[in-house]
Amino acid sequence: MCRLAAAAGCDVIVATPHQRHPNWWNCETGRLESRLEDLRAALGQRPGLALGAEIRVDSGLLEALGATDESGLLSLAGSRYLLLELSREGSGPDPHEIAHELRLNGWRPIFAHPEFIPALGADAAAMQELIEAGGLMQVTAGSLTGRFGRSLARVTGDLLDHGLIHFVASDAHSIRWRPPDLADACAMITDRWGERTARRLCFDNPRAVIEDRPLS
Ligand SMILES: [Fe+2]
Repeated sequence: MCRLAAAAGCDVIVATPHQRHPNWWNCETGRLESRLEDLRAALGQRPGLALGAEIRVDSGLLEALGATDESGLLSLAGSRYLLLELSREGSGPDPHEIAHELRLNGWRPIFAHPEFIPALGADAAAMQELIEAGGLMQVTAGSLTGRFGRSLARVTGDLLDHGLIHFVASDAHSIRWRPPDLADACAMITDRWGERTARRLCFDNPRAVIEDRPLS
C-alpha cells in the first residue's frame, strides 16, 4: 500500500489504526510505534510515515483524553488534530458536544467519513452545525469516485458542493480491498470543483495537520 501510494504521488502517510473500537482497542502505543518502525525500515525513504489513529467515539472518550499520557490515544502525527469515528447507527454521545469539548481543550477534531453516517452525510444542515461546533470533515476518496456505489458518490459530491469537506483520505485497508486511491479522487476534484479545491483538500489541509498548524 505504501509503495502504491508513493507511486501515485503521496509524500507522507499517516497510518491510522483503529483505537477504542470494540474489535481493535489498540491503545498500547509502544506496540504501534514499533510496528511503524519496522515498516519504515522495510520501505526506506518514501513515503514518509507518521503515526495516528482513527479513534472510536464512545461515552468514555473525553475522560480518556483528559488523562492524556495514560490514555494511549494517538493524535495525527503528534499534532493537536484527532481523527474520530462516530458509530454509523448514530449511537454514542452527541458529536456536537464532543467537538465543542475537544475544541475547548485545544484539540482539533476531524470526523472520518461522515458520508457513511446517515444522520450527517445526507443532511447538510447537520454537517454545518457540527462544523460550527468545531468539527472538521474528512471524506473517503473511494466514496467520491464511486468505489462504494453511485448513491454514496452522489451524497459525497453534494457535501463538496456545499463546501462542507476539509480533507480527502484514502482509508486504505489493503492493495486489493480498499487500495490507496487518492490520486483518482484528486483528479476528479480538480475536474469538478477546480484546482484550488483539490489543492486544499488533498495537499494544503493535510500538510497543515502534519505540521500542526490551523487550516488556512
Ligand atoms: Fe472508519
